[in-house]
Amino acid sequence: MERWDMGAMTASTDASEGGAAIQWPMAPSDTDGWPRAQRPLRLGVMASGQGSNFEALVRACRGGPLQAEVVQLVVNNPACRARERAERLGIACRLLDHRELRVREELDHAVATCFAERAVDVVVMAGWMRIVTPVLIGAYASRLVNIHPSLLPSFRGLDAVGQALAAGVTITGCTAHLVEEVVDAGPILVQAAVPVLSGDDHASLAARIQAQEHRILPYAVALAAARWEQRP
Ligand code: GAR
Repeated sequence: MERWDMGAMTASTDASEGGAAIQWPMAPSDTDGWPRAQRPLRLGVMASGQGSNFEALVRACRGGPLQAEVVQLVVNNPACRARERAERLGIACRLLDHRELRVREELDHAVATCFAERAVDVVVMAGWMRIVTPVLIGAYASRLVNIHPSLLPSFRGLDAVGQALAAGVTITGCTAHLVEEVVDAGPILVQAAVPVLSGDDHASLAARIQAQEHRILPYAVALAAARWEQRP
């Protein structure tokens, strides 16, 4: 059994917690085995909803294995819970409400400018429920990471958990990947497989997938950053 404890958030491969999950590539449990950045990374995070992945990233930086600091959160929705988490965690949060902007590119330009002002190295879409455009993808090419609640390329788009239940698959999971111009596609960094259990409903399956997201996303960010630093 492998276990990480990230404060209030614990993820594990222990089958007793509702089904074993398997992660590729395996994050070394020894912190020394993680890719080392040349200097502590400055992370920017984008969130639209609950913000649990945002908090998992912050915890992985603070006393966890991720050699980085979350320096800026951007949210597009004034009512999202991620904002409250940022306040509690003492992280700068900028609201860029998409309803006040005419086109997607305007929002992405504002996001990229905000992160540039904060000298962000790597950007993480942690539950960002807006389609991003080449404006943002180009500004953070090869260092824009997304987390999605399915084993891509299956079940892209909205409600991936519902899609998996409707399809009757017995294994689903989550994927952290680099963002390219096709929605929920791009080079895969890390995946975790999660079994669908008999009796699972949307909430129970989503919760088990999210526990794995909290595990794989910090490691995916470390991998993406190392690849980006080592670019030719
Ligand atoms: C996560 O499950 C993430 O995979 C999903 O939104 C949730 C956000 O949760 N993202 C997508 O579906 C993107 N296509 P959180 O706000 O608690 O981190």
